Amino acid sequence: MLNTSLPNPPGAFAATQHDAGPMTVSTLGGVLGARVGGISLAEPLTPSDATRIKAAFAEHSMLLFDDQDLTPDHLIAFGNCFGEIEDERFIPKLEGHPGVHVLKGISGGKLTTQNLIWHVDHSYKERPLMMAALYALDVPTTGGDTLFANMAAAYEALSGRMKAYLEGLSAVHDVASYGLSSGLFDSVEARSAVGRMPPAVTHPLVVRHPVSNRKTLFVNQSWTTRILGLDPAESRAILDYLFAHATRPEFQYRLKWRNRTLCAWDNLALQHRGIPDYSGPRLMYRVSVAGTWRPS
Ligand code: SIN
Repeated sequence: MLNTSLPNPPGAFAATQHDAGPMTVSTLGGVLGARVGGISLAEPLTPSDATRIKAAFAEHSMLLFDDQDLTPDHLIAFGNCFGEIEDERFIPKLEGHPGVHVLKGISGGKLTTQNLIWHVDHSYKERPLMMAALYALDVPTTGGDTLFANMAAAYEALSGRMKAYLEGLSAVHDVASYGLSSGLFDSVEARSAVGRMPPAVTHPLVVRHPVSNRKTLFVNQSWTTRILGLDPAESRAILDYLFAHATRPEFQYRLKWRNRTLCAWDNLALQHRGIPDYSGPRLMYRVSVAGTWRPS
């Protein structure tokens, strides 16, 4: 059952009406995503619009808002609808705007500030991010898409035998597994930031999403390193199976970016990754919302 009654943080919304017309929500993919129209996020959201946006977010797990003219402050205000803004360690910060980060790709398909392997943001922490959003400032006309995959759909498609096997098992999530070997964080500062990260955590392989209550597969190729209590070879084989299964095309939506689109996704429901198949610039701002839920 959907619990869409997340509280609105005090001061997050002004009680004024925007004049962008009625808000619309149109489903995008087979298993996730919706486009929200008829609303400008540059104007204060009414409590009723905020409630509808959160209901759409709970239902579709990923929302697109096209043709938005947004400043960093608008991005923070949007994030505040969902909770407390997270200050991220590994992504460069936008000077003068705490909580807004800069995602910058470079020509030749090499991205400097992001993880290109499937992941759940911050699953290596006790409370992974609740929501993340990207705002496209200067994106390639072709390539540089972002993939999302729905982890409840992935769980539901497992065989009954596999579901029974996974029940009660937990896995280690470790930031160092990707951070130190990817080459993307290959600076003295980044290495020292990785060194200051909290130790690895364990999370159940199958959780119940805190809002939808759906059973959800909670593994990802970037950070999940081993299943507790299994022989290492067996753990490796099961994880490799789950990584491949979880990201099958039928659980995915592929976002082709346009400048001035804001995309917000439920980090506890989806995995995601960028695709480095473009040349030229790719510039986005990112805001994220701290998690309050421990996967269980
Ligand atoms: C991310 O991994 O958070 C960013 C994905 C992308 O740049 O497409």
